[in-house]
Amino acid sequence: MNDLALRGDNIVKRFGAVTALDGVSFTLGQGEILGILGDNGAGKSTLVKILTGFHQQTSGTLSVHGEETLLKSVDHARALGIECVYQDLALANSLSIYHNMFLNREIVRRGPARVFRLVDHKQMRERAAHLLEDIGVHVPSVDLPVERLSGGQRQAIAVARAVHSNAKILLLDEPLAAMGAREAALIIDLIMRLKEKGGLSIIMIMHNYAQTLDIADRIMLMQRGRVTYEQQSANTSVAELMDIVRREYRAMRATTAQ
Ligand SMILES: Nc1ncnc2c1ncn2[C@@H]1O[C@H](COP(=O)(O)OP(=O)(O)O)[C@@H](O)[C@H]1O
Ligand SMILES: [Mg+2]
Repeated sequence: MNDLALRGDNIVKRFGAVTALDGVSFTLGQGEILGILGDNGAGKSTLVKILTGFHQQTSGTLSVHGEETLLKSVDHARALGIECVYQDLALANSLSIYHNMFLNREIVRRGPARVFRLVDHKQMRERAAHLLEDIGVHVPSVDLPVERLSGGQRQAIAVARAVHSNAKILLLDEPLAAMGAREAALIIDLIMRLKEKGGLSIIMIMHNYAQTLDIADRIMLMQRGRVTYEQQSANTSVAELMDIVRREYRAMRATTAQ
């Protein structure tokens, strides 16, 4: 079982009277890309927030790299190599690309300057450029403020930032939301390159079925706080997924109509 990056067993999360997760079990293999699909309110973001240590589950267990762990905080999850890129990116738009790459983890100069916690801009700039080049993200200059970039480029910077901080498990909550096809293709390419480099396991929450089947090794469908379907991408299709969602929708309408 040690080849699993993550494993969740019967995870329940309640917010007062709302049951956001109603017994979710899942696995994420080493080096695997798992795509999570599902309607708004299905509990996808809540699951991700538990995996980042932002929320704690009401019950159920979580194992990280084969060890049962209660993720107590975002720092705790980070220390275990779990990084997340949120829907709303949390980049500092007026700051440069290289600043954003090192936000809250600025490189401090060695020697006496360290005492004054002086940030080494030259080194940060060079490392940011190198890191972006390494994963094939092309920007005119790392000195550009993030607000001058397109949505896709900003998302790429956010992903690059998460990855360079030694992430072993990367969580992406709707990384392609509000992106045109070309922008989305840029991020999909980036994720495929990261996969090829190895050492990274990825969970992506997605909206578009075709894109998900294209990029994810396996997909998981969530509906009303539960996992209702799970399959290798190669063994399912957009038509089959739509059929499952449609059936669930009809059943739900039938119960609310009574
Ligand atoms: N912090 C919170 N407090 C109360 N209810 C929440 C909170 N976060 C999420 N929920 C509720 O939990 C359910 C699942 O939400 P969410 O995980 O955001 O779904 P998804 O990401 O699939 O759209 C929704 O009914 C939502 O309103
Ligand atoms: Mg969400």
